[in-house]
Amino acid sequence: MAANRAEAATTLGASATATGRYFGAAIAASKLSDTTYTRILSTEFTSVTPENEMKWDATEPSRGTFNYTSGDRIVSQAQSNGQQVRGHALAWHSQMPGWAQSLSGSTLRSAMLNHITNVATHYKGKIYAWDVVNEAFADDGQGSRRNSSLQQTGNDWIEAAFRAARAADPGAKLCYNDYNTDGVNAKSTAVYTMVKDFKARGVPIDCVGFQSHLGTGVPGDYQSNLQRFADLGVDVQITELDVAQGGNQASIYGTVTKACLAVSRCTGITVWGIRDSDSWRTGENPLLFDSSGNKKAAYTSVLNALNAGSGGGGGGGGNGGTGCTATVTPGTVWGDRYNTSVTVSGASTWTVVVTMTAPQKITSTWNGTATWDASGNVMTMKSNGSGAAFGFTTSFNGNTTARPQISSCTGS
Ligand code: G3I
Repeated sequence: MAANRAEAATTLGASATATGRYFGAAIAASKLSDTTYTRILSTEFTSVTPENEMKWDATEPSRGTFNYTSGDRIVSQAQSNGQQVRGHALAWHSQMPGWAQSLSGSTLRSAMLNHITNVATHYKGKIYAWDVVNEAFADDGQGSRRNSSLQQTGNDWIEAAFRAARAADPGAKLCYNDYNTDGVNAKSTAVYTMVKDFKARGVPIDCVGFQSHLGTGVPGDYQSNLQRFADLGVDVQITELDVAQGGNQASIYGTVTKACLAVSRCTGITVWGIRDSDSWRTGENPLLFDSSGNKKAAYTSVLNALNAGSGGGGGGGGNGGTGCTATVTPGTVWGDRYNTSVTVSGASTWTVVVTMTAPQKITSTWNGTATWDASGNVMTMKSNGSGAAFGFTTSFNGNTTARPQISSCTGS
């Protein structure tokens, strides 16, 4: 755990840097005048991805006429913060401008290649990694290519896109990026087969992005899926991470972070937005900061995982103790407060870290010895000989929806 380390960093970016990785966020140019947003952006993140500003509809609204105003704004903001930029996305069936949607065949193919050449040339030298092709595989369980107008230009459209991007900006890492490829399944295996073929034939590809738009679970083979791609000789990156709010949000974020840390070629993690109110998943509160910009339990879970990994030189690292499992059982709820009990299994002497969402506050505890971090939101509860369960009362203070999150359980 972080507490066992001499120097646990206190921001996502610094902690990730200590492991040799970046920690990024998707950002919107239209939000760069929001001071809460820019404060978190400049403090916590070492990489940015433009959420929409470098897509085809944004950068080439009419054929042959390029508009880089918003994309350039993001790049200059990133440069002034010392952040790297992931370019997103050169070729994608979605968010194509209307004029391109009406094209097909060789006309569309040459328009696509011209688009890639122009955009990658404009940003040459400023982009760490490009999502060259986005979401080209179907969700049919068969591993088929998605049936799009781009696909109909010929099955070699993906490699043609990668070759055009390499020619335009030889210094950028070139990634294939997709969703629902986060575990071993027909879709991820089809991408795997394509990457293997590209490597064998010398088609320029350097990285694979795993979007990781997750619900209430994470595939059990998440890490081994990343590893099998890395073993092909490409970097892997978590490119659009967000997780539905629910009982497991913090632990899923922690699991994903640890998986990246355990794969030496997993070079970084990007979350798809900063605050819950910035997310495309309206109402799901899937990000690391609440809508007011407060750190959530999920944030602490990621930070702790990064700090636990920082001694591993990018290759994992331990948590300084044996494992245990802490299970939350909701208790009585009153108008102004509620009870929670936590049962610990797997160790008789334990330390459980519980993270609360402000402005909620724990007002009393039982059957353990509690200490608090400076913010008052993170409680470290140690066993005191009273058994395998402890409990506490939390006052709502105006937030009746948030619930405590278990950030870690360490036995000794
Ligand atoms: O900016 C206009 C605004 O002027 C207009 O009034 C409004 C009316 O619809 O639309 C606004 O644009 C929206 C834009 O987001 C900015 O908010 C678009 O309609 C909307 O389609 C667009 O959605 C984006 C979506 O991609 C489009 O497919 C999301 O922001 C963006 O988060 C999302 O990101 C994708 C990745 O690129 C690829 N992977 C999946 C991921 C989530 O869908």
